[in-house]
Amino acid sequence: MNQINKSVNIVAFASGNGSNVKAIHRKIKMGEINAEIRMLVSNNSNANVLDYAKAERIPIFIHNKTRFPSNVEYTNSLFNVLKEVNADLLVLAGFVKKIPDGIVTYYEKRIINIHPSLLPKFGGQGFFGMNVHRAVIKLKEKESGVSIHFVNQIYDDGPIIAQSVIRVRDDDSPEDLAARVLIEEHKL
Ligand code: GRF
Repeated sequence: MNQINKSVNIVAFASGNGSNVKAIHRKIKMGEINAEIRMLVSNNSNANVLDYAKAERIPIFIHNKTRFPSNVEYTNSLFNVLKEVNADLLVLAGFVKKIPDGIVTYYEKRIINIHPSLLPKFGGQGFFGMNVHRAVIKLKEKESGVSIHFVNQIYDDGPIIAQSVIRVRDDDSPEDLAARVLIEEHKL
């Protein structure tokens, strides 16, 4: 079989609006990425991204401690879903929860995360969403940006695949910065 032409089975993970999921899905529909989003996983049963997934007929799996209280159930339920859809690549696109260690080990170098800063700066536990941009502004950084990296057992620590740099303006609010970083996220 010719592996080069094989379509990649993506499982996307998102907790909120899902603009990154939409950006990836758009590229797939345009034929620029040879892949299929086989499942959307969200910890948040009220996430806006779920409306998009429903409209686009992307299957949804809600994965959180309310549905799966024990650690074993929590890990196994996700693992079973990934197996069922033959996942090749897990894409954390605005996902706020940690992937269980066993799954990270099994899918080594097949889980990627989109992080809205120039890692290793402004990464680690607690650095997500607007917290990142507030910290960048507070420390008067001149540059910020996006990092796409492989996921390992430590928050925002795995090898970097690609980065995109933007300039931080003197009068930027965290919201201004977040909006410009998000545009770069969608491109990268
Ligand atoms: C993005 O900035 C992403 O990098 C971060 O959370 C935000 C989510 O954006 N992890 P969206 O849900 O993809 O619109």
